[in-house]
Amino acid sequence: MPTVPRTADRPLACIVMAGGKGTRMRSELPKVLHPIWGRPLLGWVLSAVREAGAERVVVVVPPDAAEAVAAVVGDAETVVQPDQLGTGDAVRCALPALAGFSGDVLIVSGDTPLLTAELLGDLVAAHAADGAAATAATFRIDQPGSYGRVLRDATGIRIVEAKDATPSELAIDECNAGLYVVEADALRPAIASLTNDNAQGEYYLPDVIPAISAAGGLAAASLVEDASLLLGVNTRVELAEAAQIIRDRIVTAHLLAGAGIVDPATTYIDADVELEADCVVHPFTILRGRTRLAAGAEAGPHSVLTDAVLESDAQAGPFAHLRAGTHLHAGSRVGAFAETKNTELGARSKIPHLSYIGDATVGEDTNIGAGNITANYDGASKHHTTIGDRVRTGSDCVFVAPVAIGDDATTGAGSIITEDVPAEALGIARARQVNKEHYAKRKRDV
Ligand code: UD1
Ligand code: CA
Repeated sequence: MPTVPRTADRPLACIVMAGGKGTRMRSELPKVLHPIWGRPLLGWVLSAVREAGAERVVVVVPPDAAEAVAAVVGDAETVVQPDQLGTGDAVRCALPALAGFSGDVLIVSGDTPLLTAELLGDLVAAHAADGAAATAATFRIDQPGSYGRVLRDATGIRIVEAKDATPSELAIDECNAGLYVVEADALRPAIASLTNDNAQGEYYLPDVIPAISAAGGLAAASLVEDASLLLGVNTRVELAEAAQIIRDRIVTAHLLAGAGIVDPATTYIDADVELEADCVVHPFTILRGRTRLAAGAEAGPHSVLTDAVLESDAQAGPFAHLRAGTHLHAGSRVGAFAETKNTELGARSKIPHLSYIGDATVGEDTNIGAGNITANYDGASKHHTTIGDRVRTGSDCVFVAPVAIGDDATTGAGSIITEDVPAEALGIARARQVNKEHYAKRKRDV
């Protein structure tokens, strides 16, 4: 997505409200930490906010999630909201972190992962164009349910929560999105003036709007056409809905940038995956973490790649499992029912079938026979296997690490390799075959 420049030259800070309990998720994990394509829910909000140009970001968190959230917010600050007294209280808790800040404050909910930098940039621009002291994003839906309703009159706008609304107010279809831009100097006194004299006994953030109007500031509403961008995640059903939409966005962005994705409906790509133009992702493939595919590289079908790098024309699949630290150099290949981990596979080398190669360095033009295993773990620590250039390993070899196979070496099929094999040598470690003649007849005769 392109970066949206700030249209106004006023500084922009952001408060992300994530202090709620998220009880409807029915999960031990704090709601904003639920992952969507390798990034926590909150991370999607933060990336939109940063892309929209917020210089300082303050995230309001509940006490029991403070440490876990702080670990994922990057250079944003976190502040703890000790008691969940409402959205107004959340912003009140954040304000000391913005002491001395003068400019606009973007206020967003931590559970709205579909927000885009464009939407936020448009809201900030509308706020600046109107010369408003406070701007609330609004949207229209047929069944507004529990959303706050937007009341407009000559003096500006006011928001009434559904639980406090009269029947005629409930009939209004313009809803409060819970997304605002407010001038910092107008926000501080308005927050200080909030009371909890309402149906829920909470400090309502939307009540700052009439307070700002009363103080002489202009309060405006900015209608968002595409209400789907405002989806809030309260349940795992909504989490799954949001994930589907984000998944489409990720795949579409890669397709437009030139990556080949044969079947978007069965392809799952994490947020931080990098795909060069003219790589190909085949159906039923999951690309996770920081996986990177160079031009001409192919992944899948039916493959899972996590934090793996495929250089140009490298291939993984069908049915390959590439775990973290797998690096396939140009033209190399990992094939069916092969698993790799922390393994460097040199240019044009192959692990074509039925193998586990972990903690290994494999040179160039080497062929790993079917059914090879690196025994990399002795129950206490992991050990490394080094295999040179132009090596041919026989089928069904086990490399008991640490062990090294020299360049141009060969290993015999069925060998348990426990000692280094010198360059050019044949390493063979298996019992010699014995044929017992007339065995069947002797069994018959007993
Ligand atoms: C809020 C708005 C409502 C709007 C709706 C849009 C209020 C009073 N109402 O209602 O007008 O239509 O959003 O989705 O603001 N939070 C805290 N601390 C708290 C309470 C909430 O940080 O003490 C956070 C939550 O984690 C959440 C956000 O604020 O991210 C919104 O809170 P929520 O309780 O979901 O507000 P709604 O009832 O949906
Ligand atoms: Ca909500």
